[in-house]
Amino acid sequence: MASYDVLGNILVAKFPDGMKVAEKRRKAERLLREKKSVRTVVEKIGKFSGRLRTQKTKWLAGEKTKEVLLTENGCSFRLNVDTCYFSPRLSTERERIAKKVRRGERVLVLFGGVAPFAVVVAKAGRAAEVVSVELGREASKYALENVKRNKLSGKLGIVQGDVRRMVSGLRGKWDRVVMARPRLSDSFLDVGLSVVRKGGVVHWYGFGHESEKKEMVAGLLEEAGKLRKKVTVSGVRVAGRLGPGMFRYRVDLKVS
Ligand SMILES: C[S@@+](CC[C@H](N)C(=O)[O-])C[C@H]1O[C@@H](n2cnc3c(N)ncnc32)[C@H](O)[C@@H]1O
Repeated sequence: MASYDVLGNILVAKFPDGMKVAEKRRKAERLLREKKSVRTVVEKIGKFSGRLRTQKTKWLAGEKTKEVLLTENGCSFRLNVDTCYFSPRLSTERERIAKKVRRGERVLVLFGGVAPFAVVVAKAGRAAEVVSVELGREASKYALENVKRNKLSGKLGIVQGDVRRMVSGLRGKWDRVVMARPRLSDSFLDVGLSVVRKGGVVHWYGFGHESEKKEMVAGLLEEAGKLRKKVTVSGVRVAGRLGPGMFRYRVDLKVS
């Protein structure tokens, strides 16, 4: 067994290449017996890919469902493992962001998925307003359900569509913009910087090897300069480990 993630009732397992199906099934049945909250075991059969960052999974054992119900940071989320991006490994990061929010802030979450960042921030109770923008229709459908599940109607808004097109329709500037970007080449920095207020913060997420960290930050500053935005880097943090030497970084950009 190489690795797995538990998403509430579903365990997503990744097996070494070449393992026989019968052996995978045996291991899946064992996991089902061992992990009391798990009712279904599926195999991850591809990386998160495409603009919607979806993964493909194959049922192996337990109840035949792809629908997850999970609890994270005291909030509850429903989603489909095949049609929506969700990583339980970002749970601490979501808590860190929620703790940064001060009373009365307007918080905009771009690339919101099923709204885990937005729900955790809104549930913390200090933000005056939270909006989450997500391209995928399925993820947005679940995001709406998650708003209701967590009793945040009227406090958290869900906007479905491309961030490049949708942010211009939003009212006013934002104190904090969370950009949990997909792992694609577009930095989308221009989008975040166009809606953050002066004195506000953009939490920009990027991926790379530790040897590329400096270059990544320098690239962001250069891009901000070209957009004629005054930006200082107030922090660069590891927000997740993706492999040997490879990390998901959060770059905090303060706009003046
Ligand atoms: C890495 S996932 C992050 C999702 C979520 N923030 C989370 O932590 O679970 C990136 C998300 O961005 C969405 N996405 C990709 N391109 C987009 C775009 N141009 N506008 C809005 N959302 C987009 C994908 O559908 C995906 O749900």
